[in-house]
Amino acid sequence: MEVKIETATIKLLDKLYEIEEECFDQEAFTKRQIAYLLTDYNTIALAAKTDSAIAGFIIAQVEVEENTEFGHIITINVAPNCRRKGIATKLLREIETLLKQKGITECRLEVREDNHPAIKLYQTLGYQIVGKLENYYGKKHGLYLKKTL
Ligand SMILES: CC(C)(COP(=O)(O)OP(=O)(O)OC[C@H]1O[C@@H](n2cnc3c(N)ncnc32)[C@H](O)[C@@H]1OP(=O)(O)O)[C@@H](O)C(=O)NCCC(=O)NCCS
Repeated sequence: MEVKIETATIKLLDKLYEIEEECFDQEAFTKRQIAYLLTDYNTIALAAKTDSAIAGFIIAQVEVEENTEFGHIITINVAPNCRRKGIATKLLREIETLLKQKGITECRLEVREDNHPAIKLYQTLGYQIVGKLENYYGKKHGLYLKKTL
């Protein structure tokens, strides 16, 4: 299966929202939130396309702390029938490259502490757990991860 990574535009909103709903229940972004993220100036959004469908997507925001910009992965989702084929890895690598091209040297993200597939993915790609986020996802705790790009 050939997978191409392309910029995700608002035209893909319905499909991306469908995947978001397949991937998360209570924690899913609303369609309105995804629409906002796809059009925000500080956001980078990428979609993974196969011959026949959109298989997944990633959205990152460029944020600023103490006058230094960093990349913040807001969401990454791969459709259930397309997992374990390296698609999330491709999406993350490509977004890191785009952040680096903007001169950004750090990427951060949050993940639910029981989301073992995602934690494994991030650690495989060099992200390190730097903190715990108490009750970040309602009653569930989160982990805070960082990577130097
Ligand atoms: C987490 C997620 C994005 C991974 O997508 P994916 O395309 O299947 O990931 P990849 O194929 O690139 O996996 C890369 C590596 O991550 C790890 N990994 C991914 N899924 C895993 C799983 N279910 N169990 C254990 N390790 C896993 C493995 O080390 C894998 O390498 P391998 O397949 O060679 O063993 C996908 O499962 C998903 O969309 N989950 C629901 C949404 C979500 O939780 N997003 C993250 C929110 S923080």
